[in-house]
Amino acid sequence: MKDFGFRILNYGFKKIRNRKFVIRNGLVWVAAFIVTVISSCTNDLPNHPGYEFMPDMYRSPSYETNSINPLFADSMTNRLPVAGTIPRGDYLPYPYPATNEGYEAAGKELKNPLEKTEANVAEGKRLFEIFCIHCHGPEGQGNGSIVANGKFPPPPAYNNQLKDLPEGKMFHTLEYGKNMMGSHASQLTQKERWKIIMWVQQLQKLPAAPASAPADSTKKS
Ligand code: HEC
Repeated sequence: MKDFGFRILNYGFKKIRNRKFVIRNGLVWVAAFIVTVISSCTNDLPNHPGYEFMPDMYRSPSYETNSINPLFADSMTNRLPVAGTIPRGDYLPYPYPATNEGYEAAGKELKNPLEKTEANVAEGKRLFEIFCIHCHGPEGQGNGSIVANGKFPPPPAYNNQLKDLPEGKMFHTLEYGKNMMGSHASQLTQKERWKIIMWVQQLQKLPAAPASAPADSTKKS
């Protein structure tokens, strides 16, 4: 078996001076190359990319976010944090439950831990204009753009129905949401929420409109 390969090699060398043999042999190689190239471009599997150079570069062995995962009984790759753990950094557990009692207690006890500096209020305004303005309106009168175009019922005005709302209740509402307003706990850190609350408090101080109905910004006067 061993010298079989050697014999073939020897045979090749002997024949190499034979032109016809070289051409014929060459054609076989060219044909084989073309077949390889063509066949590597397609495959029966619809999502198969054919042969890839260094596939590790684009196909990582880890599971993609939101993908199906055979390792977990619920088949979800996205996992919840282990119960009882909290993220590192600024996060503090929120002690008030999502109940009326929790809401009232937060209103009485919960205070803004941040200093009311100009920079904090300005940052609060900036965030308000990203996360809240489309419902509450630029001055918190409940006339944001999605209210104005009739897609959403007007929220109460900060400087009217919500004039005396304490900051703890605001935070509670941002944590859990309230009726038509969803929770903002996943979009905003606690510090960001307190900064926005500073801005909402500025808007609470605006002189109340004479009529309690929210201003209709779409109406042409
Ligand atoms: C999808 C529209 C929508 C968005 C976005 C929204 N709100 Fe509201 N908000 C409402 C509605 C509606 C209410 C009235 C809830 C109720 O009392 O039934 C409300 C109520 C409130 C209240 C009064 C809560 C209370 O305890 O009575 C505050 C404060 C408030 N929003 C602040 C914010 C802030 C700050 C943001 C941005 C981070 C925000 N909202 C984003 C619709 C929205």
